Amino acid sequence: MIIQKQNGKAVPVKNTGHNYFKMVAKTMMGLEELLAEELRGCGAENVECINRAVTFEGDMRVLYRANYTCRTALAILKPFAEFEANSIEELYDQVYKIKWEKILDVDCTFMIESTTSGEIFTHSYYAALKTKDAIVDRFRRNFGQRPAIDTENAEYKFNLHIRDNQVTLLMNSSGESLHKRGYRQAVGIAPINEVLAAGMIQLAGWKCDCNFYDPMCGSGTLLIEAAMLANNIPAQYYRDDRFAFKRWKEFNLGEWKSVKEQEDRKIGSRDFECEIWGNDIDLTVLQQAEKNLEYARLHKDVMLFNGSFEDQDPPEGRTLIVTNPPYGERIKIEDLNAMYQLLGDTFKKKYGAGCDVWLITSDFEAMKHIGLKPTKKIPLLNGPLDCRFLHFELYEGSKKGAHAAASAETPADDTAEAPDTAAACAPAAPED
Ligand SMILES: C[S@@+](CC[C@H](N)C(=O)[O-])C[C@H]1O[C@@H](n2cnc3c(N)ncnc32)[C@H](O)[C@@H]1O
Repeated sequence: MIIQKQNGKAVPVKNTGHNYFKMVAKTMMGLEELLAEELRGCGAENVECINRAVTFEGDMRVLYRANYTCRTALAILKPFAEFEANSIEELYDQVYKIKWEKILDVDCTFMIESTTSGEIFTHSYYAALKTKDAIVDRFRRNFGQRPAIDTENAEYKFNLHIRDNQVTLLMNSSGESLHKRGYRQAVGIAPINEVLAAGMIQLAGWKCDCNFYDPMCGSGTLLIEAAMLANNIPAQYYRDDRFAFKRWKEFNLGEWKSVKEQEDRKIGSRDFECEIWGNDIDLTVLQQAEKNLEYARLHKDVMLFNGSFEDQDPPEGRTLIVTNPPYGERIKIEDLNAMYQLLGDTFKKKYGAGCDVWLITSDFEAMKHIGLKPTKKIPLLNGPLDCRFLHFELYEGSKKGAHAAASAETPADDTAEAPDTAAACAPAAPED
């Protein structure tokens, strides 16, 4: 152990040996803090949130674990070159100097994704093109052969990041985006991104200690992500080991296997006694959810119901409801405002106390028709759509009150429409 004096105190120097390096984990807007927490759980150090990403340090084991387990990560990148460039020619020269033959084989495929900001590099595509030219020119001149470009399925993916004259080249250790979990065998019309779904469940604070219900579950993404969490199934368990880092020269099969085995041993270790339910009006889409659940071997953990949300009670007992209703973008609903009003009524009349409701939507007009005031509004992006993830707390007396009021007024007819009870939630305020 090395001891250092800091302010007169003897402090052991942390083991940040030569095998520790910087990494960047990419995520979606609004999920940075969740990802930072997941990364700390993987043993990452010096974790810091930046815009749609988290920077951290760790060794190859941390890199393997972050790829395998982080539910809110889109990719884990490893920076490997940093330099200044004040022109496109300087960028070419600096890239040319890098010993690419230590990273790539001549017969492999690669691609470059780029983001640029500032006044020097105004076209990110052109910067990526010049970077590619420098790499292939170096190979051609030194070896007479060059690796090929593949923009769809490249074996090596690089990120070129330029801010003013500061250039960073990063290797993508994940390869295909980590939202592609591998369990999706069938998709509905508007499936939600898996990383966003996992993020929503965590933002809603689900600790796997109550039921989970999605009344408009589509092809079942939220249900599968919830069931994976409840069963401690690693985020990439179904991915068939497809990770770009497995091609890296420093890849260590033994270490990767040991990380994977450690994580797989945790599967089923949680005492999860609660229910996970899904409902959808569209039987075809519900069959897709069933197919995905069967593929993930989670079909016995999730109950599916076919019908309109207002006709389906949630499970008995404390329940977290997280849902992704139509926004009118991809799924056309004749009267979206009326649908959102019915949703609000259903929250009040059918769900009531013991239920916490969260929904994501980009339709701010329809949102006003829910008739309840959200207690939280979290900005999220669903693809290009600016969304709000809304939380509605339902209080004691809402469901009972509604039913009691209904039965008091119409004792012989329990199908009668119950009046809204102000006790259910604070009334809606106009949307800002
Ligand atoms: C945006 S999609 C949900 C996608 C889902 N999160 C997924 O990952 O596949 C909205 C879903 O709401 C369903 N839906 C529309 N109206 C409904 C209703 N009245 N009751 C129940 N489901 C409904 C649609 O069939 C569709 O599957």
